Amino acid sequence: MADIEIEIDGRKLTAQPNQMLIEVADAAGIYIPRFCYHKKLSIAANCRMCLVDVEKVGKPLPACATPVMPGMKVFTNSEKAIAAQRSVMEFLLVNHPLDCPICDQGGECELQDLSMGYGSSHSEYDECKRSVADEDLGPLISTDMTRCIFCTRCVRFGEEIAGMREMGATFRGEHTEIGTYVQHAIKSEVSGNIIDLCPVGALTAKPYRYTARAWELDQAPSISPHDCLGTNINVHTRYGKVMRVVTRENAAINECWIADRDRFSYTGLDHPDRLQHPMVRVDGEWHTVEWQHALEVAASGIHAVVASAGADQVGALASPNSTLEEFYLLQKLMSAIGSHNVDYRLRETDTRDQASISVYPGLGLSLSELEQSDAVVLIGSNLQKEQPLAALRVRKAIQHGAVVLAVNPVDYEFNFAVQVKEISAPQHMVAKLADIVKALKLEEASEISRKFVEALQGKQKVAVIVGALAMQHPQAAELRYLASQIATLTNGTVSLMTDGANAAGAWLAGAVSQGLNACQMLESPRQAYLLLNVEPEFDCANAQVAAAALSQSKFTVAMSAYRNPMLEAHANVILPVAAFTETAGTYVNGAGEWQSFTGMASACGDARPAWKVLRVLGNFLHLDGFDYESAEQVKDEVRALPRPERQALTLPSIDTSVEKIELARIGEVPIYAGDALVRRAEPLQTAQDLMEKDVDCARVHPNTAKQYQLVDGGRVIVKQGGEGVEMPLVCDARIAEEAVWVAAGRCSSAALGGLFEKIELQKA
Ligand code: SF4
Ligand code: SF4
Ligand code: FES
Repeated sequence: MADIEIEIDGRKLTAQPNQMLIEVADAAGIYIPRFCYHKKLSIAANCRMCLVDVEKVGKPLPACATPVMPGMKVFTNSEKAIAAQRSVMEFLLVNHPLDCPICDQGGECELQDLSMGYGSSHSEYDECKRSVADEDLGPLISTDMTRCIFCTRCVRFGEEIAGMREMGATFRGEHTEIGTYVQHAIKSEVSGNIIDLCPVGALTAKPYRYTARAWELDQAPSISPHDCLGTNINVHTRYGKVMRVVTRENAAINECWIADRDRFSYTGLDHPDRLQHPMVRVDGEWHTVEWQHALEVAASGIHAVVASAGADQVGALASPNSTLEEFYLLQKLMSAIGSHNVDYRLRETDTRDQASISVYPGLGLSLSELEQSDAVVLIGSNLQKEQPLAALRVRKAIQHGAVVLAVNPVDYEFNFAVQVKEISAPQHMVAKLADIVKALKLEEASEISRKFVEALQGKQKVAVIVGALAMQHPQAAELRYLASQIATLTNGTVSLMTDGANAAGAWLAGAVSQGLNACQMLESPRQAYLLLNVEPEFDCANAQVAAAALSQSKFTVAMSAYRNPMLEAHANVILPVAAFTETAGTYVNGAGEWQSFTGMASACGDARPAWKVLRVLGNFLHLDGFDYESAEQVKDEVRALPRPERQALTLPSIDTSVEKIELARIGEVPIYAGDALVRRAEPLQTAQDLMEKDVDCARVHPNTAKQYQLVDGGRVIVKQGGEGVEMPLVCDARIAEEAVWVAAGRCSSAALGGLFEKIELQKA
């Protein structure tokens, strides 16, 4: 359609038909006050703050709900417009407390700002102001509902974006109240966005509340260290201390949203577990020492193992949240001492197809392309909890008519509808997927597989998403192969949703084992280990095996931001390293975008950025090429690396014996148990998603409970590798039969074994 010419405040502007006046004004930098309008939400037009004067129209019109018309002449600050806006403000303030000095929003409040511009210095209203009881929305969001101006942004966000109808309006007229219909803590994993959306101090961040004023804060851009999307954030600090994290808009990645994990994990930065000083263990006792001494001990210990047993006896494991620079220096150090055992895939066990991964395992498409998909196939993925913002894109795809199909061990209640699902225990997932491939090839297949094919018929843009439950599966190579077959047969793409923030960075930096992978390094124990931000009992695919390997090792150096019981029991040197807000580095997201950040907060105690620690450790080991002066230099070296050729993907040999496993564990990592930082973020640990009763238990299908003569709520012993732990049993019809859901990354299950392996169940 042809463009439309309009005029706002005397400026000639071009607009698209159907655009609203406010959009055109915003694009041209012409300010129109507003409360309810938000570019990512539907138009409510209920606050009337955006009233403007349109030529030849008697009454002022709301700019957010008035479509442009050819030749329209608009005045945003004519006498008529200002008078209308002033009277709206007067009504808004009738019931508003306006006690800005004791309001947490003071200094960054849209109402406070606008009342300065449009408010009157006195009020005609001398009746009592209305007050509304506050609601307890849980540990993340604080409420002060008397301050609510009913813009309904929070309500629309829940309905339209998050897909959870949690907030709503009750009662009518002057008695209208915004809140949860039934008193409960908010469950959504993206709930914190309503804090940013709320134009007033009705919804504020509970952990930040009353700790600082906006004008005291410094702001620095950064990247969230939790998932493979590379969410852009702004970190607010005061005198070098992180006070809060808010969203930073990036249309290609997170739009203007962030997940609660990205927003509130900073609360773990100051946890009492933070390591302040280097420590060395002498005769079983830990001693705080100077960096110089700790590095000497670390270097000589590594040197001694290399000299006596060979470099292959040294293994390095790094958290998938390490930066590109840390990965690069770790692998450079390892290869300089002659070992190729370095890996970040701590929870993965099957890496047989690694030679076929092209450059790095990634999304294979951008997030906006994901949003335009017309079919999404989830394979072993609890997408909403693994990558919450990717789930929002899938929701949008559905709004455009996409279908979602899933092959999962749990029938997850997503914030989007799943049309066809195959709920299968881990040991049967390969067979089920192979059957869907057969059906796509029009070979004989099960009815449910044929339903998958029917749903995919005629779809032009199919996104096949391989989630954590598949990536960490003992037959992950088969699952990835079959996922790629589904993509090939439907002309679609495969997205590998990797663990942590920087799997792509690890591959680009060469921190992917050419020797033993993470799992093999622990299964055939090395004599020495270098650990970078690894908490073995929570981060590894098999906590039992990790504990056994570390207890046998002769020498372990742990670079860690936090104290950890297993490290304290088995390491010889612990070097305190900086958290993500205290170091410079680069994360590469699943779509291949390199995003660098700098440190904005003061390091905790004597902690040092891990890239500097590795650089100096290289010097202490007398290795060449460890003279970098900045993280930038390290990054530039990684950029210049040649990329190896990859082999074609072939079907790995399928191990059909796993199908005979009676009960397999579904070792899902709950959203706030994934890494050392979130595990120490107190408000997230008490959030709905991590309620102990829901997480620290064994979940089984009611039929499985019956088969083992177990009752809902009873105590059971779950056993793996000879070790058993007692926990409550929960009957949950969402869990596949022949499987037991026992969360990973939790103290309650830290004594158990493989995440998706055989498990036994007996009455306590
Ligand atoms: Fe002042 Fe805004 Fe708080 Fe109202 S919500 S008291 S205007 S800072
Ligand atoms: Fe608007 Fe805030 Fe009230 Fe929600 S709580 S309706 S976002 S003012
Ligand atoms: Fe237009 Fe609220 S912003 S009516």
